[in-house]
Amino acid sequence: MDDIEWSKLGFGYYPTDYNIRCYYKDGQWSDLEVSGDPDISIHMAATCLHYGQEAFEGLKAFRGKDGRVRLFRVDENAKRLRRSCEGIMMAPLSEERFIEAVKLLVRKNIDYVPPRESGASLYIRPLIIGTSPQVGVKPGSEFMMVMFACPVGPYFEDGFMPTPMAIMRGYDRAAPLGTGTIKVGGNYAASLKSGSIAHSKGYSAVIYLDAKEKEYIDECGPANFFGIKGNKYITPKSGSILPSITNKSLMQIAKDLGLEVEQRPVHVYELADFDEAGACGTAAVITPILRIDDLDEEKSYIISKDGNAGPISTKLYETLQRIQYGDLEDKHGWVTIVDPE
Ligand SMILES: Cc1ncc(COP(=O)(O)O)c(C=O)c1O
Repeated sequence: MDDIEWSKLGFGYYPTDYNIRCYYKDGQWSDLEVSGDPDISIHMAATCLHYGQEAFEGLKAFRGKDGRVRLFRVDENAKRLRRSCEGIMMAPLSEERFIEAVKLLVRKNIDYVPPRESGASLYIRPLIIGTSPQVGVKPGSEFMMVMFACPVGPYFEDGFMPTPMAIMRGYDRAAPLGTGTIKVGGNYAASLKSGSIAHSKGYSAVIYLDAKEKEYIDECGPANFFGIKGNKYITPKSGSILPSITNKSLMQIAKDLGLEVEQRPVHVYELADFDEAGACGTAAVITPILRIDDLDEEKSYIISKDGNAGPISTKLYETLQRIQYGDLEDKHGWVTIVDPE
């Protein structure tokens, strides 16, 4: 680990020493196993490969100034993975087992948790896949859970700097009664083409509108949307977005900071009224939005007038990060300490 330049890390795969696995067969999950092998072997007819039986999560571990390692809201990821599994007919892993696996994974790779001053963290990627060999669309009965970790730096190269985003009505990420509220691989496959087009045009993300009416904001690529208007934190309510744990935390922090919080449908034309806006999620924390180009209506909403992050987004970002790194009191009980072996 001594040769890792922590502060130069980007967001991406980086090998670590161990991963954690368990298997579901004959109606029960096996004990957790520690593996040093990054490869997995599955049957060519596995249901994950043909019918998309795959769900995943993403969370981070942070090393504080005191050297101790903290997980942020791991219980929320445990619950969301359970819901994702139930949504695509996979056997859910219990929340207790999930948390035990995350702790074991972090403990085994503890030297890969970056130091506080680097601003980096250890990203944890759990996934569950259907492994039953099957042809014919029906749920499998065997599953595998794998969990690995990578030290990561900022998701966007520019870090906490406002970036432009685009509205493209020709693409949907998730259907109104589809799988948008759970974290399954198919949703991300559906977003790859629009995301690539947006990137090639210089945008950091696509702002998806609701798939039915194309009037209301859903979310920003792999992150939720929020806007600041005066003293209000406003974030979309929709039946097709992933409930972000970061957004849930920011809503609480906003209240703690004395802001009013509104979770309601947000019409695209309301973009003209926001003083600040951002995308939020585990990977990016907060990405402030510079401007939003509506590529169909050939209209631009300028969000950041001076090209910098606004004062409220900055305060929210700093408060969240300080809780995550253990610099601020954890008054909502969001943090779980992982001690070394
Ligand atoms: C589609 C989508 N929306 C929002 C988020 C942000 O969620 P969280 O804050 O729990 O990481 C993610 C990332 O997990 C995502 O993939």
